[in-house]
Amino acid sequence: MKIAVSGKGGVGKTTLSALLITVLASMGRRVLAIDADSSPHLARVLGFPNPDEITPIAEMRELLNERSERDGPFYRLNPRVDDLPERFIRIQGNIKLMTVGAIRQGGGGCACSDNVVLKALLNTLMLSPDEDIVLDMEAGVEHLGRGTVASVDHLLVVAQPYLGSIETVSKIIALAKDLKMKAIHVVVNAVSAPEDVVFVEKSLNMPVLAAFPASSLVRQAERTGAEVALADETMLQKARELLEKLGAFSA
Ligand SMILES: Nc1ncnc2c1ncn2[C@@H]1O[C@H](COP(=O)(O)OP(=O)(O)OP(=O)(O)O)[C@@H](O)[C@H]1O
Ligand SMILES: [Mg+2]
Repeated sequence: MKIAVSGKGGVGKTTLSALLITVLASMGRRVLAIDADSSPHLARVLGFPNPDEITPIAEMRELLNERSERDGPFYRLNPRVDDLPERFIRIQGNIKLMTVGAIRQGGGGCACSDNVVLKALLNTLMLSPDEDIVLDMEAGVEHLGRGTVASVDHLLVVAQPYLGSIETVSKIIALAKDLKMKAIHVVVNAVSAPEDVVFVEKSLNMPVLAAFPASSLVRQAERTGAEVALADETMLQKARELLEKLGAFSA
């Protein structure tokens, strides 16, 4: 299944993505982890060595051009995850990781090309029954605005129990609905009291699929450079329950 993780800056998208990826991989599933942040952190959080050496998929454009027919702004191709060239991918156990690449702004053009590649990949990558994609999205609403993630099976929108985060979640949900995305789920992170979840549900007028606690173990791991996704068994258990609700293990 293809899962995208979205939300306002700093709400925990990368942390939750890493937890989901770690749990899926530990259940024997093969995971393609895609970091779509312009300053990628997922590799570090997952404990991949030398994360800076990963070639961003923006540079895959040429390869896609070679391999596929261009059809207007879209690529027609059917790559399997296994076919993607090694230099774009770091492999660690069951996890393959790729990054979308730095978003060029100002005089350097726009992020559109990177997103065209990402959109093409998400639309066309064929997954085996034991493969999943987890996409750690750029903060905010831009990817949604461009329809990059319209083809994923589940969109997780991460909220924290404060108004600024709720506003972004509302915008993301509205855009996702415009894209006719059906499986849109709200996840609350850094919960320190049951009222936090009630606040989010009331503010958005929709149920929360999963709530992750504020974790001192995660904070500590982040500070010491330890593997954040393995730091707190409670967080891993919450990620497991979330994935079960999505039916990730029933394939
Ligand atoms: N449940 C939690 N408990 C404690 N700390 C957390 C929790 N979730 C995330 N953090 C910490 O909060 C910070 C931001 O988290 P993270 O990088 O996952 O957010 P993000 O949404 O990916 O941010 P960005 O928008 O910059 O990509 C990190 O230092 C992370 O370790
Ligand atoms: Mg992040």
